[in-house]
Amino acid sequence: MKRLANKRILLGITGSIAAYKAGEIIRRLRDANADVRVVMTQGATEFVTPLTFQALSGNPVHQHLLDNDAEAAMGHIELARWADVILVAPASADFISRLCLGRANDLLGALCLASHVPLALAPAMNQQMWKDPATQTNVQTLRSRGVLLFGPDSGEQACGEVGEGRLMQPHALIDALADVFATGSLTGQTVLITAGPTREAIDPVRYLSNHSSGKMGYALATAAMEAGAEVILISGPVDKSLLVPHSVKTIHVTTAEQMLEQTQALAHKADILIAAAAVADYRPVLANSEKIKKSTESMMLQLQRNPDILATVKRQSPWLFSVGFAAETENLELHARQKLKDKGVEMIVANWVGHAATETQGTFGSDDNALKLFWDGGELELGVSSKARLARELVVLIASQYDNAIQSGRLNKEQREVENVVQLRSHSHDKKN
Ligand code: CTP
Repeated sequence: MKRLANKRILLGITGSIAAYKAGEIIRRLRDANADVRVVMTQGATEFVTPLTFQALSGNPVHQHLLDNDAEAAMGHIELARWADVILVAPASADFISRLCLGRANDLLGALCLASHVPLALAPAMNQQMWKDPATQTNVQTLRSRGVLLFGPDSGEQACGEVGEGRLMQPHALIDALADVFATGSLTGQTVLITAGPTREAIDPVRYLSNHSSGKMGYALATAAMEAGAEVILISGPVDKSLLVPHSVKTIHVTTAEQMLEQTQALAHKADILIAAAAVADYRPVLANSEKIKKSTESMMLQLQRNPDILATVKRQSPWLFSVGFAAETENLELHARQKLKDKGVEMIVANWVGHAATETQGTFGSDDNALKLFWDGGELELGVSSKARLARELVVLIASQYDNAIQSGRLNKEQREVENVVQLRSHSHDKKN
């Protein structure tokens, strides 16, 4: 169940006899390496104690909306931002009705309102309650708002009756939840992503670099793969703990020139280029072959400009739908729009860095960020959220902008075909020689 690995699942448990089955759901989620946080309604605690779910999830169970201690640790808004998906299992008839009305009179109801991530309900109730027109109308309304319904199953019920209203089997629920992350929006496309910093050698033991962690680029690689794309990641030196799914082909490079070379070599295969790397703009003119010894009080290091990978590759491969990043400390919009023009790309993803980034925005090294996207004739703000979630939202937007660009004929795919023929010919020529 790779798609649930490292996903943040907010599991809401409401008052139903099936509440005890949430234990099995939590166990399976943890087996799939998901991070689980549980929110229980008052009704749920009448059936099972929070301690059970605390032990199973490995995290404290959240219960109250206005609890000073809980709000100080992870408040309801933070919890809403934390989640990648909200699953309410079991979802009682009463909870479904409250959700339909938009009630925020308890923690779970407030979280569902405060979050914009996918929301899935796994109803569990007496078959007559499920069939009742009131419940059916509520379910239809929620469906029309984009809420996902998992189940219910049919069969014998705890009350002895037989019919529809049983909680979906935990293994089927987990499969359905994993499918939420498989959007398919990039099926058939190849996406080339640059990530992380580059390092420019001064001597064998020293280099010039920057604070980029590579987390955003790696999150984008995962999100694009989940959206059905074939993904090639060209990564600068990042922490070894940063991982992408096995199906993402990863090429490791160190310098800007190496990153350029690999990106150029692979551009003919790709449909979309996302340049998330924080490329060092300059490199030492000469990298000393021996360690530089300290001899003088001060020293000069002469630097020369590195090539602009994004601008170069976009110029050489204009069929690539290209997305650049802009990390700024001032005049975010001005600089982002300038980069959109200067680099000739389709989209710029801007974010504040350094002193300009607030603590909650994170940026370098942090797990969270906030982004502002610019394209010709449009812009969109994505508020503070995990990089994983932002990456998924970004991928959805890139996929739709890419479709628009293809449909309007703005990207010339024929040029790529010509380039592929040239590449094939030069390979066969090389082989003959
Ligand atoms: N970029 C690149 N090659 C470079 C420099 C930047 O491909 N030599 C790409 C980055 O990956 C990013 C975008 O260009 O997608 C903008 O990078 P940024 O560092 O914000 O801007 P620069 O173009 O380097 O301009 P400046 O440093 O002056 O803001």
